[in-house]
Amino acid sequence: MAHTGEQSIKKQLVHALTNAGDGYISGQYLAEIAGCSRTAVWKHIDALRKEGFEIEAVKKKGYRILPRKDRLTETEILIGLKTDFIGRSIHAYESVPTTQTIASELAAKGAENGTLVISEEQTEGKGRLQRVWHSPHQGGLWMSLIVKPDIPPYQAPRLTLLTAVAAVLAMREMGVEAGIKWPNDVLVNGKKIAGILTELHAESDQIHSVVIGIGINVNQQPEDFSTDIKSIATSLAIEKGENLDRVIFLQSFLAKFEDLYVTFLAEGFSPIKEQWERYSITIGKRVTATTAQKSLTGYARGINEDGALVVKDEHTNEEQLIYSGDITI
Ligand code: BTN
Repeated sequence: MAHTGEQSIKKQLVHALTNAGDGYISGQYLAEIAGCSRTAVWKHIDALRKEGFEIEAVKKKGYRILPRKDRLTETEILIGLKTDFIGRSIHAYESVPTTQTIASELAAKGAENGTLVISEEQTEGKGRLQRVWHSPHQGGLWMSLIVKPDIPPYQAPRLTLLTAVAAVLAMREMGVEAGIKWPNDVLVNGKKIAGILTELHAESDQIHSVVIGIGINVNQQPEDFSTDIKSIATSLAIEKGENLDRVIFLQSFLAKFEDLYVTFLAEGFSPIKEQWERYSITIGKRVTATTAQKSLTGYARGINEDGALVVKDEHTNEEQLIYSGDITI
């Protein structure tokens, strides 16, 4: 993570260079725009190149930026990000075992509310129920958000539902008709496109932080999925028939997450629950729920304030609350 002042100079430089298209901008002019010396411009251009930006320098002409590649760097993500605090502090990696562990460590060291940990690849991506989350290089968005809400620990699962709504809204904005399968799988045409894993760090009745892990399949093609998940997984690119700019999608997701998060803290869970139910593909269906203790089949009526699924058992006609587990529709 770069120092804020340096980050803002880099942002200004990228902005100016991008606006110039394939034209050149002199070092002197860039120095004036960024309010720094020409040597500082050169130093920052060098840092940007290390982040993966391709910037040409030609004597007597100046600098020119080449069309950007689809890279998840701090600078790329910050340019055009429309949030106040979500994703404002970014830790971006090429490859890590899992962003969850890094985020938990950063949270323990006092990372800011809204910190984003993101990696191009995860070698030990974690899914729910101790499953593996396949996280190949450049195919998707593998990230963990650190938030520090002032809510009692028992309400933390609500953030998982909120995150699913944010993912669905961002996908729908891109023209992909995503829905939510309880508890927090995001599906398109019956196939999984995103998953959420929430880890709570709390002491008795006080939340220290919540690490929300989100995996979104963006640009994978069917052949990129391993044989065991090929028939049950999809990506935004498969559904849209074209690759997407991951940075733009990420920025939209973060803005939607922030909106919902602020609403949740100000107005409570009802507005979030309403949206979750609107986009749910579980509610109103006959489902079979399998938990560690039992398996039951019945009509899924809705969710309660804790995010538990309310199922009317078709054998006993009684309502049962399902707090964790898997369902089949
Ligand atoms: C699920 O099983 O549906 C949850 C998947 C969560 C995957 C994300 S990817 C980023 C973060 N890091 C991980 O190791 N897991 C979560």
